[in-house]
Amino acid sequence: MSEHKLATNALHAGHDTNHTQGTRAVPIYQSTSYVFNDTDHAANLFSLAELGFIYTRLNNPTNQVLQERLAAIEGGIGAVVFASGTAAISTGLMTLLKAGDHIVASSSLYGGTFNLLNVTLPRLGITTTFVDASDPSNFGKAVQDNTRAFFVESLGNPKLDVLDLKGISKEAKAAQVPFIVDNTVATPGLLNPIEHGANLVIHSLTKYINGNGTALGGAIIDAGTFDWTNGKFPEFTEPSAGYHGLVYSEALGAAAFTFKLILEGLRDFGGALSPTNAFQIIQGLETLPVRIKQHSESALALAQWLQDREEVAWVNYPGLKGNKYYELAQEYLPDGQSGLVTFGVKGGFEAAKKLTDATRIFSLLANIGDTKSLIIHPASTTHQQLTEEEQASAGVTQDLIRLSVGLENLNDLKADLEQAFQAI
Ligand SMILES: Cc1ncc(COP(=O)(O)O)c(C=O)c1O
Repeated sequence: MSEHKLATNALHAGHDTNHTQGTRAVPIYQSTSYVFNDTDHAANLFSLAELGFIYTRLNNPTNQVLQERLAAIEGGIGAVVFASGTAAISTGLMTLLKAGDHIVASSSLYGGTFNLLNVTLPRLGITTTFVDASDPSNFGKAVQDNTRAFFVESLGNPKLDVLDLKGISKEAKAAQVPFIVDNTVATPGLLNPIEHGANLVIHSLTKYINGNGTALGGAIIDAGTFDWTNGKFPEFTEPSAGYHGLVYSEALGAAAFTFKLILEGLRDFGGALSPTNAFQIIQGLETLPVRIKQHSESALALAQWLQDREEVAWVNYPGLKGNKYYELAQEYLPDGQSGLVTFGVKGGFEAAKKLTDATRIFSLLANIGDTKSLIIHPASTTHQQLTEEEQASAGVTQDLIRLSVGLENLNDLKADLEQAFQAI
């Protein structure tokens, strides 16, 4: 299926109806485990002499469809799904890294990821240097002998900075480390980071891919392009104590990381996606290409409208002419810049809080990428635990409001914001 275009892959990739009794929809295989033909068959599955399903923590036929579909639309050789975007990130990093290793990351990251890199992983001996990602050379400058990964968001949440992925991927190549790109906000409907040099792509499927706010999920898509035998990753080239001496790079070649993620990452950390959630996410993924176009169009129109409001101090949307990231957005996101818009309200922290309290269609909640419009004031909520300096480098100011523009009628959304402005 991967030779097909996005909209076709989003509907069909990974599902062979001959394997599902002809069901046109992907079935939910709600089973924890799978009957072996006999003990030899079981032994072959465990030793990888034969591939098949063993236990749903490792894989499941519904999840497998989602994995193949995500790999097809991102242009990877394989994908692994997880219980949430956070499970994907933490399991991915824990599978790749060990105590003593170092990450170079963009300082503009989702607050939860920032906290994982800034507080939790250092407790386990894995440290991160955060850099201003607007200049790719900052990544190269921060490289140490023990650096083993670069981590960025293609469209930062909530800073909405569009990164020069090609420039950063060159720096990653020079440092011989995998370039990991969280593509949650941009989505594969608008951007494929692998085309620009990413080695691993991460998604919170909870957001635009599911799209309806009904299920958490996460994924890692492996481009299959990283050379694990370059001397920096002995866990891939030496017999694995964690999997009866398997040498991943020899046995699995380009798919070494994907298999390590399943065989050790999911086995040991257990962040498996429920097949029912995989089913929900597949329903969403099928319409992603049409939805993300409309999200982007409405977000741009609303950003333009906000620019003309006297209550508004500033508006940030990479599709706005004059925006700091406009040129990069035209290069990397020419078909739309997704559904997030941020703006500052005159009156600062208190006025921003009041406005978010006053909307009726925009729901005040901590999520993005729903069909329904959402609003939040990050400084008092999602980014509350960060210092003011950390908030600033993540692009969060006291007056900032983040909108996740949904699929409602645009005039209704404007009217909702209009009445909220009047309320403050
Ligand atoms: C860019 C980005 N990555 C990862 C995550 C984490 O995903 P999840 O909430 O599915 O754990 C989020 C959540 O907001 C996000 O915005």
